[in-house]
Amino acid sequence: MMYASCRLLAIIASATIMVSPVLAASNTVPDYEVKLLMNSTAVLGTDFKLTPTVLSYFGMPTTVTKMNVQFLDKSNKEIYNAGWSPRIRKTEGESDFELTYKKRYSITGGNIDAALTNANNEGFDSTDTKYDAQIEWGYQKQTLSISRQKSASGSGYSGMDLPGQTKSRTYLIDEAPDKFDDWVSNNWGTTALASARIFGPVLAKRSIGTWSGLQLYIEVWPIKDAAGTGIEYIVEASIKTTSRTTASTKQADLIALLTVKGWFLAQDSLKTQLIMDRY
Ligand SMILES: *[C@@H]1O[C@H](CO)[C@@H](O)[C@H](O)[C@H]1NC(C)=O
Repeated sequence: MMYASCRLLAIIASATIMVSPVLAASNTVPDYEVKLLMNSTAVLGTDFKLTPTVLSYFGMPTTVTKMNVQFLDKSNKEIYNAGWSPRIRKTEGESDFELTYKKRYSITGGNIDAALTNANNEGFDSTDTKYDAQIEWGYQKQTLSISRQKSASGSGYSGMDLPGQTKSRTYLIDEAPDKFDDWVSNNWGTTALASARIFGPVLAKRSIGTWSGLQLYIEVWPIKDAAGTGIEYIVEASIKTTSRTTASTKQADLIALLTVKGWFLAQDSLKTQLIMDRY
């Protein structure tokens, strides 16, 4: 009897394995963000703002939008090392805080679809509409990120202020999506957040202009330098598109333009990594 039911289970199990490729949902469809570094010495003035030449070229106003950003993690970066980044952001002009839970997948050899398949195998597929998939397309590196957005009340906070450690933990724990929370084991995410600290904050400034028929963004991120005594300005130019072909073409075009102008920094941006390393 026992043997028979085990046999039956084995048959069901193998049948399930055989049909699962047919039942599997398709890969999620990402959008694309081309993100290239600019040489801060070349594009910032002594006031660490974009020079009039750069603003004028992209038709940018002198007004910027401020964004204050901080990540939460344990001091041993357990969450980051598992590929996740829980973030709190305050954007100028918005009353609430944006909470983001972002999972990164590295892309090797330009194989975007392989990364999307990895994400699918880990539970992020086209049926999961609560998460946004984006390919961050840098200079030589691409990364797939899968993010879930939540919000938390900003009432009682003024200006660009972000919540302190205790409130930041509470906000991110209260809104934690299940996939993040149960990533390593049950309640792994919220357990880690309960003893997390702040990495940051970093107060970035965004300018919006146009280039080649697209909106072009330039963000200036003042990040603590490697010595921890000064500030290093990270300047990123980016465009967004839903088309992989457009992303590929515009990435090459933007590199060419920035190079000709003497504005290009031929490196990949490791902004989040720098914040996790230096704070
Ligand atoms: C950045 O720009 C400055 C000023 O134009 C230049 O001297 C420097 O070589 C550039 N750095 C890099 C890494 O391209």
